Amino acid sequence: MVTRKELYDKCVRILSEKGFSENCGNEVSWVFQDVLGEKNICLSSGGVISREQEEKIVSVIERRSEGYPLQYLLGEWEFYGMRFKVGEGVLIPRQDTETLVDVVVNKYKNSDSLTLVDLCSGSGCIALALEKQLDCERICCVEKSEKAVGYLRENIAVHGSIAEVFVGDVLDDGLREKIPQADVIVCNPPYLTREDMEHLQREVTFEPETALYGGDDGLDFYREIVRRWKGRLKAGGGLAFEIGMGQEDEVMRLMIQHGFLNVRCRKDLCGINRCVIGEYPGNTM
Ligand SMILES: C[S@@+](CC[C@H](N)C(=O)[O-])C[C@H]1O[C@@H](n2cnc3c(N)ncnc32)[C@H](O)[C@@H]1O
Repeated sequence: MVTRKELYDKCVRILSEKGFSENCGNEVSWVFQDVLGEKNICLSSGGVISREQEEKIVSVIERRSEGYPLQYLLGEWEFYGMRFKVGEGVLIPRQDTETLVDVVVNKYKNSDSLTLVDLCSGSGCIALALEKQLDCERICCVEKSEKAVGYLRENIAVHGSIAEVFVGDVLDDGLREKIPQADVIVCNPPYLTREDMEHLQREVTFEPETALYGGDDGLDFYREIVRRWKGRLKAGGGLAFEIGMGQEDEVMRLMIQHGFLNVRCRKDLCGINRCVIGEYPGNTM
């Protein structure tokens, strides 16, 4: 029978041989935790690993060594201190996106009874993290992909959320009319350019193209959402976007052009402008 240490070393070796240099040890530990159902893995002690567990661990690591996302293999991932169910068909919550949550939490932490709309919800990580931090009376999540909606509903149930799901296209005017006037609209739309799509990291190729591609210049969703959704904000309501690297000038310009005030961007932990936010004064006519 194989010891924990032997199996661990074998798994690290499988990943290293396929060119995984960073984080191999952590990844193997997470797989051990998942398969063995233990929070902390101790290699020098602990119970025996059964043949079945060994086979499961090795098969997960072999799939991982082909570049398949670890998050899909584990079936869940952490975002803003919460666990979210994920799998093929839904975007894996990114740490970069925590910047958008931080910005919105800072702005609305003293507000009551917020109506929040999350466009392009995916797993629901943004909406559910905001619900936990803010006083929300109503939360509406809009998502087009049926597969993503499956995970969204699951996450809403797991976290006991009040979020309502609207399955459909954020560009559909009929759907938009069903959504209440919002205090804040948040959105992390698909924003990769055509060129980005040609140079995706192997892991990202397993994620849905519809969650990634934002048109030739990556800005299609910003153009449409600013124009179509500003009227769904209460007077003074906020619109907050996540953006891709280098998109801040164009997205800020768009929002200013459409009458938003106090438009500004915020950096992520790597110092990259990651978020644009502004307030809409309402229809002045
Ligand atoms: C970049 S992902 C963001 C997911 C999630 N909000 C997050 O931050 O992890 C964009 C999401 O928009 C969805 N989407 C793409 N086009 C859409 C559309 N026209 N209407 C509604 N949702 C759309 C995709 O299915 C995907 O879930």
